[in-house]
Amino acid sequence: DWTPDSFVETTIAALKEKLGDDKVVLGLSGGVDSSVAAVLLHHAIGKNLHCIFVDNGLLRKDEFESVLESYKHMGLNIKGVDAKQRFYDALSGLSDPEKKRKAIGRVFIEVFDDEAHQVQDVKWLGQGTIYPDVIESVSVKGPSATIKSHHNVGGLPDFMKLKVVEPLNTLFKDEVRKVGKALGIDDNILGRHPFPGPGLAIRILGEITPEKVDILQQADAIYINNLRSAGVYDKVWQAGAIYLPVQSVGVMGDERTYENVVCLRAVESLDGMTADWCHLPYDLLAKISNEIINNVKGINRVVYDISSKPPATIEWE
Ligand code: XMP
Repeated sequence: DWTPDSFVETTIAALKEKLGDDKVVLGLSGGVDSSVAAVLLHHAIGKNLHCIFVDNGLLRKDEFESVLESYKHMGLNIKGVDAKQRFYDALSGLSDPEKKRKAIGRVFIEVFDDEAHQVQDVKWLGQGTIYPDVIESVSVKGPSATIKSHHNVGGLPDFMKLKVVEPLNTLFKDEVRKVGKALGIDDNILGRHPFPGPGLAIRILGEITPEKVDILQQADAIYINNLRSAGVYDKVWQAGAIYLPVQSVGVMGDERTYENVVCLRAVESLDGMTADWCHLPYDLLAKISNEIINNVKGINRVVYDISSKPPATIEWE
């Protein structure tokens, strides 16, 4: 019978056998899958696993630092790479969602390739691919899919010529979480909401600037912290704030303001394919709205998205 413990034991033994003294590079995203894959590989080959965590400047507030700290705490051999400016430069002037996704995918590959080259004699690319990613070959999600869609752009980067090791490719998401728990990975990583690879770039409608990222990070942090302190974070499948390219009139003291709108999104779902908007308590929404408008400069209006998927999608881009 399948149990998380037996999976951990047999997988670590099999990875040891397969990899021997070889080196592996793996890109960590802060998400559940890549984290569990990394810890399994770390148990099997220790310091021969070289993890790379890229700061694309599109993560949640303080996320890069705090997740990097957790990874180090777990004993992973990890390098954090500040590539914020490279991503902002590539995104400059782009407002079409697919162009933004492509630019982010391209820069990620460039940065990752530069870093992979620093690891002498690396033989393998580790990936957190899970079973649904394998069967859903048309999936638009995840680093492997991002990489696939770039196959035909000017030849393969060197790291994509490496042999691939994917220790989770027979598991479903709930099994990955159980394996993560059996490995002792923190709930702070295992219990987190899904977060898209292109990050806040697809939650800022239209063109990205570092200033808009900063505003959205502040609003999003207020939102998520309030979900946590109200005890509803774990009941929500995914939540996030969206920066709308709309200005509206407001009043602050005696002054008329003309500033942007932030939309709050929270959904219940099993797999992201369909989703219902969450009926968050009005009192909680009121508290979040007040806190955002009173504290985030540049935002004078907060709205709540009451659309389900289909026909809407979870993200706005
Ligand atoms: P939608 O907006 O299509 O989102 O209803 C479904 C799920 O997929 C995530 N998503 C993405 N994840 N790269 C990702 O890694 C992407 O480009 C992307 N677009 C959407 C979304 O956050 C939700 O969990």
